[in-house]
Amino acid sequence: MKIFLDTANLAAIKMYNDMGLVDGITTNPSLLAKEGGDPQKTMEEIVRIVKGDVSLEVLSIETSGMLEEGRRLRKYGNNVVVKCPLTPEGLKACKMLTVEGIPVNITLCFSVNQAILAAKAGAKYVSPFIGRLDDNGQDGINLIREIHQVFQNYKFTTQLLVASVRHPMHVVEAAKIGAEVVTLPPDVLGKMLKHPLTDVGLKNFLADWEKLKKENPSIRI
Ligand code: E4P
Repeated sequence: MKIFLDTANLAAIKMYNDMGLVDGITTNPSLLAKEGGDPQKTMEEIVRIVKGDVSLEVLSIETSGMLEEGRRLRKYGNNVVVKCPLTPEGLKACKMLTVEGIPVNITLCFSVNQAILAAKAGAKYVSPFIGRLDDNGQDGINLIREIHQVFQNYKFTTQLLVASVRHPMHVVEAAKIGAEVVTLPPDVLGKMLKHPLTDVGLKNFLADWEKLKKENPSIRI
């Protein structure tokens, strides 16, 4: 399973990238607005830091505008994936950008039908937003299960990118299903790392080593 970070926060991206945990990044206009500053510079910097795919979203709602923006965004780097919305215009732009060799992530997917259409339009990734479905009283993880099944039935090559992830159990469930990618807010990745027994265990190991050192101060490893 690939782990993408769902953020435009450069400090978090650098930190987790240095740990070797970041296979890619997804951003959107809201995440860029949250960080403030110059979004163009931020996007360029993210593309520079991360080796894997970086999804950068178009803002136009017309196909022609999406194509123009998509081509411009792709100039930031060869790892740029253009994020288009799951609208008729977005799917058309997806088809055309894909033919040009520019990979596309179709975003704002909320149903199996929409995911099938994204795959038919040649998307490299489709992003179902599971947390927002949960918020809406629906079962986000079940949508992942269903899309995964359908994609397997037809050997679609579009990768299932689980988005709008709210907590570590979303990650566990997505991994059990076999989703190719999860994109995580940095705090969810932080929670995946932590376990109280790890902290207690490490504290005890260090305390026992100190006891040994008191008996024999010259020991080292
Ligand atoms: C995906 O690419 C989106 O950026 C993201 O996962 C949206 O999640 P949210 O529902 O937390 O805004």
